Amino acid sequence: MTEMRMKVNGSVESLDVEPWVSLLDALRDRLGVTGPKKGCDQGACGACTVLVDGMRINACLALAVQYDGREITTIEGVAHPLQEAFVRHDGFQCGYCTPGQICSAIGMLAEYEAGMPSAVTESPGLDEAEIRERMSGNLCRCGAYNGIVDAIMDVTG
Ligand code: FES
Repeated sequence: MTEMRMKVNGSVESLDVEPWVSLLDALRDRLGVTGPKKGCDQGACGACTVLVDGMRINACLALAVQYDGREITTIEGVAHPLQEAFVRHDGFQCGYCTPGQICSAIGMLAEYEAGMPSAVTESPGLDEAEIRERMSGNLCRCGAYNGIVDAIMDVTG
């Protein structure tokens, strides 16, 4: 067991974790923070996306002990215009992927504003193609992609 502390959605949390426990399992099973969802548990769907110091990661691929002393934000700690935009544009159906989609979109906007280039598109701005590429790590089995992209475009003007 390793004793560690993280700030989760503004609250400092202390916990003992085995070194093999993922950040996702630590959040959900140890701290009861269930906004991040377990979809694939292998980095393929994005349902577990959280923000670490403002940058997005797949919590299922991260070991909790690596995040000792870091600040984690999950959907429970988010207050962002994207949330209302998702409602306005029907950016979800069943809602299972939505916490990850919104956290990912917030992280994506931070990456874009920090000048991180897209791996594929050469769009000069954050247009639809660029958003789709940058959000391609977040799957929606209901297929609400058009609404998700519209919601993101709504808040980016
Ligand atoms: Fe982490 Fe699918 S549960 S990427």
